[in-house]
Amino acid sequence: MASSSRGQFTTRLGFILAAAGSAVGLGNIWGFPTNTAENGGGAFLLIYLAMVVLIAFPMLVAELTIGRYGQSNPIGTLKKIWNGKPVIAIILGVIAMIAASLILSFYSVLAGWLAGHAIAPVLELVSLDSAAKWLVTETLARNMFLTALFSLMTIYVVQRGVADGIEKWSTRLMPVLFILFFVMIAYIFTQDGAVKGLKMYLIPDFSHISPKLIIDAMGQAFFSLSLGVGTMMVYGSYLKKDANIPKTAGQVAAIDTGVALTAGLLILPAMTVAQHNGVQIFNDSGELLSSGALVFSVLPNMFETMGTAGLFLAAMFFVLMVIAALTSSISMLEVPVSCAQEELNSDRSIATWVIGGAIMLLSFVICANTGTLIDLVALVSTVYMQPLLGAAWAIVLGWVWHRNGVLKELQQGNPEIENGLFWKIWPWYVRFVCPIAIFAIFALPFV
Ligand code: PFF
Repeated sequence: MASSSRGQFTTRLGFILAAAGSAVGLGNIWGFPTNTAENGGGAFLLIYLAMVVLIAFPMLVAELTIGRYGQSNPIGTLKKIWNGKPVIAIILGVIAMIAASLILSFYSVLAGWLAGHAIAPVLELVSLDSAAKWLVTETLARNMFLTALFSLMTIYVVQRGVADGIEKWSTRLMPVLFILFFVMIAYIFTQDGAVKGLKMYLIPDFSHISPKLIIDAMGQAFFSLSLGVGTMMVYGSYLKKDANIPKTAGQVAAIDTGVALTAGLLILPAMTVAQHNGVQIFNDSGELLSSGALVFSVLPNMFETMGTAGLFLAAMFFVLMVIAALTSSISMLEVPVSCAQEELNSDRSIATWVIGGAIMLLSFVICANTGTLIDLVALVSTVYMQPLLGAAWAIVLGWVWHRNGVLKELQQGNPEIENGLFWKIWPWYVRFVCPIAIFAIFALPFV
């Protein structure tokens, strides 16, 4: 397909909001605070920040640069870089597509639950109590209904294309999310018990640092910045040629990390406020009751203790979560859809329905086995596949693609780049340090 007929983000802000919309999601508002609460508070926070700065950010620049050069879906882009070796390009592109689809399959189940918790308080306000209860009680029918609801929202936005679907919705939804966030933080700090959560968040307990914590922090950083699975590559391909990639990537990473840190500021104090109100959060050995407990029992319990104001806050909080999840899920679905549209010449709408529908079926399988499959699929796709695919892209950029090609691509939005510090460090860093660091971190448990 000629590049002129491809979609493009129409404004720089539109791109930043769409990419930040992809990055900001359940990973920030749920995953990061949960990991932090489980892993020694400030200790996890510090290692996570190191992972973002030292590995995830350079990789974000790499993925966006590869994508913008390719002006195509991830498979098409890799074929262009690997000129003459299409088979490796196709294999890696397909693995990325599978990883994106796996993430979407469990993400839709979690987001569906959140949608249930967003709708339930509204039903309660109009006295539809039994319907509200159905939405927040774990049953197969409810899981499937809510998953289907969320999947259909994702499909709806993606089939509308880049400017009209992804950009328009991200630009509308992201600012709402930020406003809702600040209202809730202001509220939580008026409550007794909040300061204890703040201390837990900010004072590191280094006794928790272990190989597992370091691997988890790396996975969390890759997940949070939507790396590895081709999302940032395909968003990069819709980025205008005059955009300065390192600067744009810095802005996206800063927004993403800012939201995660802010979410910690909301959720950890909210936990200790709930504790103060008599809600049990940790078991006797000091572990979180479950990773879902934080969002699905601690927070609703906390909202309940707040009376009618709690109903409004609950609806607001869960709407916020669904918004954040939707701007991420659309970016996941865009990966296989763009491959089908450009590599197989499929109609965008049909491709979106067929692929989105197939992933929804996979989500239904997960719905029927939530206890085992969510954690397993999340572990395989986010903790292992995302960083390993990241290492693959570092190798593509550092070893397969010619250094001059990389420079030319970056110069388009930043003609002076060759003389700056960034260009002195980053190409070597991605070529050597990133892949070695990723493999070394996976090797930690064996040393
Ligand atoms: N970054 C998203 C989050 O933090 O929730 C998750 C995500 C989106 C992962 C897109 C992977 C992806 F391709």
